[in-house]
Amino acid sequence: MMGGQPIIILKEGTEREKGKGAVYNNIAAARAVADAVKSTLGPKGMDKMLVDSLGDVTITNDGVTILKEIEIEHPTAKMLVEVAKTQDDEVGDGTTSAVVLAGELLKEAESLIEQEVHPTIIVNGYRMAAAEAVRRLRQLAFDVKRTDKATLGSIARTAMSGRSVGTNADFLADIVEEVAGEVRADVDNILVQKKHGGNLKDTTLIDGVVLDKERVHPRMPKFVRDAKIALINRALEVKKTEVNEEIRIRDPAKLQMFLDEEEKTLRAMVEKIQASGANVVLAQKGIDDVAQHYLAKEGIYAVRRVKESDMKKLAKATGARSVTNLDDLTAKELGRADLVEERKVGTDDMTFVTGCKKARAVSILIRGGTEHVVDEVERILHDALRVVAAAIEDGKAIAGGGSAEIELSIALKDYAATVGGREQLAIEAFAGALDVIPRTLGENAGLDPIDVLIKLRADHQKKGGKSMGVNVQTGEPLDMIKANVIEPLRVKIQEIDSAAEVAGMILRIDDVIASKKSPPPPPGGGEHGHGGGMGGMGGMGGMPPGMGM
Ligand SMILES: Nc1ncnc2c1ncn2[C@@H]1O[C@H](COP(=O)(O)OP(=O)(O)OP(=O)(O)O)[C@@H](O)[C@H]1O
Ligand SMILES: [Mg+2]
Repeated sequence: MMGGQPIIILKEGTEREKGKGAVYNNIAAARAVADAVKSTLGPKGMDKMLVDSLGDVTITNDGVTILKEIEIEHPTAKMLVEVAKTQDDEVGDGTTSAVVLAGELLKEAESLIEQEVHPTIIVNGYRMAAAEAVRRLRQLAFDVKRTDKATLGSIARTAMSGRSVGTNADFLADIVEEVAGEVRADVDNILVQKKHGGNLKDTTLIDGVVLDKERVHPRMPKFVRDAKIALINRALEVKKTEVNEEIRIRDPAKLQMFLDEEEKTLRAMVEKIQASGANVVLAQKGIDDVAQHYLAKEGIYAVRRVKESDMKKLAKATGARSVTNLDDLTAKELGRADLVEERKVGTDDMTFVTGCKKARAVSILIRGGTEHVVDEVERILHDALRVVAAAIEDGKAIAGGGSAEIELSIALKDYAATVGGREQLAIEAFAGALDVIPRTLGENAGLDPIDVLIKLRADHQKKGGKSMGVNVQTGEPLDMIKANVIEPLRVKIQEIDSAAEVAGMILRIDDVIASKKSPPPPPGGGEHGHGGGMGGMGGMGGMPPGMGM
């Protein structure tokens, strides 16, 4: 062409990785991410301690939390992080499994590529395999009813196992079981508040809304029975001018007038509140000292700076309509509750709104020795509530402990034979990759993974062996339904779907073109924290940060 003259279309300094080199590189990066979370999988999985650039520590076993926290730069590795996030958004659990499975699918693909199977064939085969796997999963699933608290409790327990609450998992699962009936499509119906101090066992379920707020003035009543609640989303303050202007008053009498004027305005506000018949004020913004004083004088219980999300829950539960203009506040806008009360929790005071009249509201107040504990318990409860919600919504659950994966693996091998052609190889590879879940469950429990797999496969060939999974204590196969290791069907479907999808996406890339950014800032200045956490990640070299996908 063109007299042998190369045509340059890329900017000087652009890095480019083509063909198999690019594919191998991408696979290595994605597998490194999978390896980073693999050891946390299952009830015997380990925890990770994440330290950010400010020295803040997070200790968790939750795949998506780990991946969000470690700052990953490699563009392909980031795609795996996205899988975890999607899994978390969709179902709240199974993030580690999805990532580990994606890593394994890529590992299998690598050996197929070495055997000269084209990535397009692999992608195709994987897509067929995933569709078949999901079809089989639906057959394996069984029905769960909203009223079946025992099964829903088992689902919560399974999602909690392996998290660092140890012996308290049962106790927490009981709480989730208790509120299971309240979980509708929206887990946000349940308010989770945390306060460190005390013992995890002090975590309680409260029939009402709990606010991490004290009343604004000590002379206000400590509790109000038959509460008429005003939700106000404007500040009970005199508006300060936007510009930083200065008012100079030389005459002391004028100064007094100026202050009086301010006080009058605030007093008028309180009068309007009082006129509505409210005896509790929950304000989303600030309350001026003077207004506090008048509210206290009128015997009104007031709280300021309530979170917007909490305001919404309060409105729903008490039937209050929040007002911005105090002139709109009438008896009609007020919400009702049996009791609004300040209670001491640990060293802090919190406001409890109980006996809500409009709708049942449930709050979980988490207690625990340290902040790290309450934070992790919050994540755990949140995940447990999400899986219970998913099970209720779909009304379907499936046996866990690697049993579904083994069953699928066997089924897919049969299916592969019926497909034939070169896709057969890819479907077989997919079947092999599924073994990674039971294998890792065994491995993380300190068992011989090969031994675990062989025994499981043998049992699954037998009649009635469909729900045999890994007994992490002994390594012997155990019926997971009898052992109450149960997961929502949606978690498993999402795992397979998203793992297959991201593997396909990564395999289809055969050219990575990275434009050079402006030179990085000198060491020590600016950017911090990058590259931390994942030292020695394979295949990450030479790739500039922030390359779009
Ligand atoms: N008691 C148990 N015995 C055997 N396997 C169990 C038991 N409890 C849970 N499992 C299995 O452990 C796996 C889930 O492990 P884990 O919760 O660590 O990861 P994940 O759910 O994939 O991701 P994450 O919870 O981090 O979002 C599932 O396959 C589940 O069936
Ligand atoms: Mg889990």
